[in-house]
Amino acid sequence: MSELTGKLDELRGRFDAALTAASDDRALEEARIAYLGRSGEVTLLRRSIGQLPAGERPGAGKIINDVVEAMEAALEEARTRLQLRAFDEDLAQRIDVTFPSVAPMRGSIHPIRRVLEDICTFFERHGFAVVVGPEIEPDYYNFDALNIPPEHPAREGFDSFYITDTLLLRPHTSPMQVRTMQQHRPPVAIIAPGRCYRRDAVDARHSFMFHQCEGLLVGEQVHFGHLKGMLTGMCRALFGPDQSVRFRPSYFPFTEPSAEVDTTCPTCHNIGGPCRMCGGSGWIELGGAGMVHPNVLHEMNYDPDVYSGWAFGFGLERMAIVRYDIDDIRRFFENDPDFLAQFA
Ligand code: DAH
Repeated sequence: MSELTGKLDELRGRFDAALTAASDDRALEEARIAYLGRSGEVTLLRRSIGQLPAGERPGAGKIINDVVEAMEAALEEARTRLQLRAFDEDLAQRIDVTFPSVAPMRGSIHPIRRVLEDICTFFERHGFAVVVGPEIEPDYYNFDALNIPPEHPAREGFDSFYITDTLLLRPHTSPMQVRTMQQHRPPVAIIAPGRCYRRDAVDARHSFMFHQCEGLLVGEQVHFGHLKGMLTGMCRALFGPDQSVRFRPSYFPFTEPSAEVDTTCPTCHNIGGPCRMCGGSGWIELGGAGMVHPNVLHEMNYDPDVYSGWAFGFGLERMAIVRYDIDDIRRFFENDPDFLAQFA
């Protein structure tokens, strides 16, 4: 039996060497015939089993079968290897591997993101924390805690996408004022950027989804002058060193007094006239602001006789439109590479 195994090992060695040396299908076929063919070496060995003692025959048959199986597998592997090599050679002839490849597309930071990051940088430098919160909020955070009780007409203006009777996509970032004051005792200084949703028909100036940045500062003796200083600084950081801000009296339930905030039109620098950006007024509206309403402080267990604060909420699309002179808010969300590449 060991004689048989020895023979098979030796034969297997030669067979493998023949496969390795084979450079085409014909050589492989010759090896197959020489070893596994009708009068191949293995076949002759198998025939010689008949001369073994009867008890050894089944064992010898199995040994030979196993070897044949392994040799057939090796043959198949060698065929595949040759095919792949032929394929590679063919490709190399047809493809010029030295040809320069297509340059990879270079991504860039989205203009909304740029504005957002610049605002964050400005406020962080002044000790504000950046906080983010959920886009789905209970009406308590969106309205009640912000001094907008049920049935208050101001709810109408923030009307949004309701998920249940009391849960809605936030129409503004102001709920983050509430979440912050619930979790921290004064002083607090935060900004809260993020996506907001309103049931607005889409046009050049409106989108059902947009971004806001909320700001909140509460402490002792915080006053309107601080608000004006910070917003002026932010506008200068974003739009240029000569920016001013202007406050127009307005109304928000969660601030008193309340104001709309404008900044110098960066396109015409307050000259107005035929300016397309500001419509000739010389000013661009950024959003709302005001001194936090005592009812809001009270709801948060902040003593309104000790603490005061200011807040603002600005639209980031609006700021990006003004900063980059963009004609249509929809461009921000269309993901057109040609548009976005301008900000690379
Ligand atoms: N939340 C308001 C809106 O979306 C904007 C706003 C106004 C935010 C006054 C404020 C604020 O924090 O004090 O229209």
